[in-house]
Amino acid sequence: MTLRIAPAGVTDIQQVLADHSRYWGARDLRGLHLLALVQEFGSTCLVARDEKEEIRGYLIGFVTPDRTGYVHLIATRDDTRGTGLGRALYSAFTDAARRQGAVRLKAITSVTNEGSVAFHRSLGFEARIEKEYDGPGEPRVVFSRAL
Ligand SMILES: CC(C)(COP(=O)(O)OP(=O)(O)OC[C@H]1O[C@@H](n2cnc3c(N)ncnc32)[C@H](O)[C@@H]1OP(=O)(O)O)[C@@H](O)C(=O)NCCC(=O)NCCS
Repeated sequence: MTLRIAPAGVTDIQQVLADHSRYWGARDLRGLHLLALVQEFGSTCLVARDEKEEIRGYLIGFVTPDRTGYVHLIATRDDTRGTGLGRALYSAFTDAARRQGAVRLKAITSVTNEGSVAFHRSLGFEARIEKEYDGPGEPRVVFSRAL
């Protein structure tokens, strides 16, 4: 399977949302797919398409003023997992973030998302739990990696 990774547009993310459960299962993360992020950070939001132009994975990210490449969301379609696409999306994001001056990467996940923790560790991230990252009683796993 040949996949092509390119900058994502609003319509790409709308297509992902129409297929939301194939990326996130029973979790409803539709509210986190802020189209304004795609509008304003188009070169660090990415989509992967197969030969039939079907979307197989995507990443929404941006570079902060302190030069952190922050990955807000990354997901690969349920039938594409374990094929290296998540790693390839991160690699493409790293290239785009470096071009904007990023010197480190950061991402967040819920403390129950063991797959995400294993995935980020495989990519060389350090993981630590921040107890009130999202407010009182809302811990998150914070991933970080120098570039
Ligand atoms: C997390 C996710 C993006 C990984 O994507 P993927 O395309 O399956 O990842 P890859 O095939 O590129 O795997 C890269 C590495 O991570 C490891 N990995 C990926 N998912 C893993 C899992 N669930 N458990 C253990 N290791 C995992 C792979 O073994 C691989 O390691 P290696 O390269 O050392 O052999 C995908 O599982 C997903 O979309 N999950 C649902 C959405 C989600 O939770 N996103 C992350 C939170 S923002």
